[in-house]
Amino acid sequence: MTLTENGSLRFPEGFLWGAATAAHQVEGQPADSDWWAWEQIPGKTRDSATAERACEWWAGRYVEDLDLAKAMGHNALRLSVDWARIEPREGQWDQTAIARYREILGALRQRGIEPMVTLFHFVSPSWLAQKGGWLNESTVRLFERFTTHVVDALGDLVDFWCTINEPNVYGTYSYLLGAWPPERHDLLSTFRVIRHQLVAHAMAYRAIHRLQPRARVGLAQHLRVFDPYRPRCAFDRWGAWLQDLLFNELVLSPPVDGVLRPPLAMNVKVPELVDSQDYVGLNYYSRDMVTFDARQPGMLFTRRFAKPGAEFSMDGWGEVYPQGMYRLLKRLGAYGKPIYVTETGIPDNDDSKRSRFLVTHLAAIHRALTDGVPVRGLYFWSLVDNFEWKESYTARFGLIGLDVETGKRTLHDSGQLYGEIIRGGELTVNMLERHAPELIGKAVA
Ligand code: FCB
Repeated sequence: MTLTENGSLRFPEGFLWGAATAAHQVEGQPADSDWWAWEQIPGKTRDSATAERACEWWAGRYVEDLDLAKAMGHNALRLSVDWARIEPREGQWDQTAIARYREILGALRQRGIEPMVTLFHFVSPSWLAQKGGWLNESTVRLFERFTTHVVDALGDLVDFWCTINEPNVYGTYSYLLGAWPPERHDLLSTFRVIRHQLVAHAMAYRAIHRLQPRARVGLAQHLRVFDPYRPRCAFDRWGAWLQDLLFNELVLSPPVDGVLRPPLAMNVKVPELVDSQDYVGLNYYSRDMVTFDARQPGMLFTRRFAKPGAEFSMDGWGEVYPQGMYRLLKRLGAYGKPIYVTETGIPDNDDSKRSRFLVTHLAAIHRALTDGVPVRGLYFWSLVDNFEWKESYTARFGLIGLDVETGKRTLHDSGQLYGEIIRGGELTVNMLERHAPELIGKAVA
């Protein structure tokens, strides 16, 4: 994993190379969920498009994408199961949904691709949403019961689990910014939802280990880098520290020390949360600059924005900052657990920036490995263009391009490149020269 004599960056044997997906974003024929209900309202998503077809995995087209994943050499895939399909009404379990997931997992195994299964990726069954969803404390127990059911039903095919995807993003978009269902704008509700998800993670972690003592269980944490816009200004530095505390640290430390630290309230220790992850999952996309802004009391006197003049992905999606990957991996290394990059990727509709993104972020991962950080795999977001939540199909993240009209798949150049990297187990000098010449001769700055 060090720089080889010829200057290429080699990755360790056994590294997991794959991509990440989520049920609602790829499956199509959605079940009765809060997201599906919300998308029906014109204007909620970009172009008012819905996940009705998405990538048609439920209709069988997962086969095409898994074949392409295998052709690229993937040995891992992160996918999720949809709670609304498996438990369409409270306490009622749909065996046909389970059977279909077994088919998909079996198809992965046949191709030598190891699944990591996420149990909650943003979408709740409608019956749960009607009871208050994640605002309601009883959801913790309902999620534990759902987890037990899924592990019972799929456990012979999966022992690598991700309980919950990005509690901080879910809380922020659905309960603070009001951008996703149920469109709330309430800071206290946001913290409550995040707290319930962290406790639910802990209960699920314990439940999975009761059924599968050797399972590997963690959660996918979305972390951002927050840097002071004016590094010499104490107020900006305080703002960056505060954002890090409220977005990153709020979710990072509880599965380690078991302490929930709600701002402006008493700390609570939850015994089940102590040491409740077998690995740390990192979803990393971008960095924000932070400045003090006296006109924004609602945002705790801080303002976040992308660094002017930086390298950007699509409009409005922020800075491309591979050093952030390195910095966050170094930080997570302190937990002493294996680390998986459970997502990273770029919205790039014409695939003109994805290859460079892939190379620079892999070089950053390599640098962390060289420093001794135990990074064990990468799940690139995403395998195939899919339903990108509020942005619907207008922001495309796939290594495989999707023609939304016909469903035709085309392996992008970036997918081709990922395949070459995986098959060779390294970033070659030629790849660095072509996509990131500034990195030649040094690990990522
Ligand atoms: C992550 C989500 C994933 C996808 C990517 C672009 O925050 O987990 O579903 O939307 O962003």
